[in-house]
Amino acid sequence: MRARLARRLFVLTFLLSPWSAHAAVQARPQPAAASEMPRVRLIATGGTISNKVGGRLTADELVALMPDVTRWAHPETEQFANLASGELTLGQWLALSKRIAALLDQDRDLAGVVVTSGTDTLEELAYFLDLSVRSDRPIIVAGSMRNPSTLGYEGAANLQDAFRVAAAPEARGRGVLVVLNDEINAAREVTKTDALRLNTFQSRAYGILGVVDADRVVFYRDVVKRHTAKSEFELAPVATLPRVDVLMVYQGAPGDLIKAAVDQGARGIVMATAGAGATSGTQDEGIAYATGKGVFVVITTRTGSGRIAARVRTGGPRGTSSAARSEYQIAGEDLAPIKARILLMLALTKTQDPTDIQRMFTEY
Ligand code: DGL
Repeated sequence: MRARLARRLFVLTFLLSPWSAHAAVQARPQPAAASEMPRVRLIATGGTISNKVGGRLTADELVALMPDVTRWAHPETEQFANLASGELTLGQWLALSKRIAALLDQDRDLAGVVVTSGTDTLEELAYFLDLSVRSDRPIIVAGSMRNPSTLGYEGAANLQDAFRVAAAPEARGRGVLVVLNDEINAAREVTKTDALRLNTFQSRAYGILGVVDADRVVFYRDVVKRHTAKSEFELAPVATLPRVDVLMVYQGAPGDLIKAAVDQGARGIVMATAGAGATSGTQDEGIAYATGKGVFVVITTRTGSGRIAARVRTGGPRGTSSAARSEYQIAGEDLAPIKARILLMLALTKTQDPTDIQRMFTEY
């Protein structure tokens, strides 16, 4: 009885062992070779995410903070600058946009790009890239609110999330994305809403595009406005961006500031108006001075959300007085003043035609 049992066990072990060993090899998840992973290029520009006390972290040092990143992407690095966001010049913006465009054009196998930025003007850089890099591959802008020397530094987590989104096929064609605090926001819609809090980047009425969770990257919606691959803006022949200033409406505001901007060479002015287009003080005189000289004045709202509609038949948007209305007055639609400024700068690299510029404000 015992011998028969032993013989059966022996036969069973003999028969099953190669199979079970094989099955075990098959089932065990193998670490993918680096070459099989989507390649994602970090282009570091500086900001709080790298602003370590005693010396800024380089692009390579930032990548070294994410030991797990190779689960999702094969990282590559490039140091573009190492500055606060506000210190980058518009010339550097141009160079960065052209660099990303050239990189994506030349390196067809590159899955995506991550750009680190200081958070203060991050949303402006992100929207500039959204309008000027004509590619459907993911471009993710990331940063952090706490610096690497601070307890609770969230930069490494934000950066890893950015790499995950850049490597995700689902992120293709969605425009430039801003990734911080486990959330994905659209460059066009997102704004920094708090000077210090970690959840500062919000898209207000529009909400998040998606999230970066432990299991996967999830998208919930798309931006329907034109961007990236569908953009008409081509920066290759552009050497400098035209001057466009932003001025705010406040009670009793003097119009001579608008005149001063025009006299200093502004090709466009964005008015952050009260409510849905109201000016104050002598600003209408300043607007009439600007439009009389062929300087575009884009009407936006300072409220943080809402839309400025173009007037149906003639002149500028609703809200401003009829005296100030002119074909050079453009309705900013739902763009925040600082985003409208970026669109107007790019528009002016292509056209001086008011109808065409108004079209751009409805399409982008
Ligand atoms: N507040 C940071 C920014 O938006 C600047 C911090 C720094 O990198 O010096 O760029």
